[in-house]
Amino acid sequence: MTNKGNHAPPGPKGLPILGLALDVRHDALGTLQRMARQYGDIVSMPVLRMNRILLNRPDYIQQLLILDHAKLHKSTLTKLVVGPLLGQGLLISEGDFWRRQRRLAQPAFHRSRTNEYSPVMVECALERMRQWRGGETRNIAEEMMKLTLEVAVRTLFGTTLAGDSDAIGSAMTFLMRYYLRRGRSPWRVPASWPTPANRRARREVEYMDSLIYGIISDRKKDTQPRNDLLSMLMAAMHEDGSQMTEKQVRDESMTLFVAGHETTALSLVWTWYLLSENPDAEARLHDELRSVLGGRPAEVSDLEKLPYLNAVVHESLRLYPPAFIMARMNVETVIFAGYEIPPRSTLLASQWVMHRDPRFFEQPGRFLPERWLDGLESRLPPGAYFPFGDGPRRCIGQGFAQLETALVIAAIAQKFRFRLTRGFPVVPEPLVTLRPKYGISMSIDSR
Ligand code: HEM
Repeated sequence: MTNKGNHAPPGPKGLPILGLALDVRHDALGTLQRMARQYGDIVSMPVLRMNRILLNRPDYIQQLLILDHAKLHKSTLTKLVVGPLLGQGLLISEGDFWRRQRRLAQPAFHRSRTNEYSPVMVECALERMRQWRGGETRNIAEEMMKLTLEVAVRTLFGTTLAGDSDAIGSAMTFLMRYYLRRGRSPWRVPASWPTPANRRARREVEYMDSLIYGIISDRKKDTQPRNDLLSMLMAAMHEDGSQMTEKQVRDESMTLFVAGHETTALSLVWTWYLLSENPDAEARLHDELRSVLGGRPAEVSDLEKLPYLNAVVHESLRLYPPAFIMARMNVETVIFAGYEIPPRSTLLASQWVMHRDPRFFEQPGRFLPERWLDGLESRLPPGAYFPFGDGPRRCIGQGFAQLETALVIAAIAQKFRFRLTRGFPVVPEPLVTLRPKYGISMSIDSR
């Protein structure tokens, strides 16, 4: 049944031309939640004369990510924001090209391969902790970013970065803000104009390129057998026997590098913050770790004996999903909730909104890892909880990320406890990912 008489789903009018642009700019997360509360399961949100359709019902989200997958592409904004850095990497490529690349990369993420990286993940956590002294205060967001960056570089490229991690961190932060501001702005200065921001953006992309191309070119000269992700990408062959071009290897490596370390760091940061605010949950986690591991780092085989740790990670990804929204553009007419959505509309599914929906989660604003202990995940309707997306474009690194977060939390929580610096403002900033705007300053106490 279609709703032909009604051209658009319900929603606010917003301001002339701008629509909801100012609300989104000022408080994107709050605006999304307010729209869902006021208008229901499907909402039409005008932003800068473009209509965005926000879907707030699990079956609509399943339709978006699975059933109608072939009629939907990644949104223009997503491509505008991450395209200049990621090129034609997996995250934003489309159609047959994406399918071929996904098939090539998939074996590198097979569980048996991912598990081989677990010693590196633990080693990086131990190394980071060696820098810490009990009683000192650090920005935990920066610490986690350095940690996951090191894991990414070692597992992806089989090398270390020595002095580059600070420069990479600041390049990434700058580029994310820059591209997002451009994407959301109604008045866009061409990227070729030599404004200070445009010049810096070009410099940062060139810097990231030089790093990655440098590693690829060293690897070409290298004859040692290796088992990192880069060597798998370089060796992978299409069915016709052809291999990826150097540009394609660059795009895929950059994509895995960027998509992988930033999100995983955020998942860790938000977990430390939530644990520090919820001492009962923290104490229960400590008890479980003590009784199962007794002070030693976890191995892959331990993880099934650590259900509370798993619940903590699930709950943190529910409340602070690093990927807080996913956007698609329909290439042909699609019908949602009976409404005909004309081609080139933007459809949105937000983890931030769905994961805090009281229809699916009791006391949605509270950090209650216990909720996951009695099979909640299998009772939830598909589409209510999707921190890693769903369907054919589900996160390729999900297993990798889950392994890394669990191993790192187990290693660190047995040695240290973090406490938020009194009065420090923790402000979720929805950029491409959900970051703490000012980082998170915490004291590091030895246990
Ligand atoms: C907690 C950590 C992570 C979260 C929350 C996360 C989240 C997501 C989500 C929601 C998507 C789907 C986006 C969409 O459909 O529009 C995605 C895709 C993707 N992720 Fe992750 N991710 C994480 C870690 C990783 C890691 C560790 C890697 C690689 C090492 C990775 C690589 C990718 C790639 C390549 C895609 C695109 C897949 C495709 O379209 O075929 N992610 N991720």
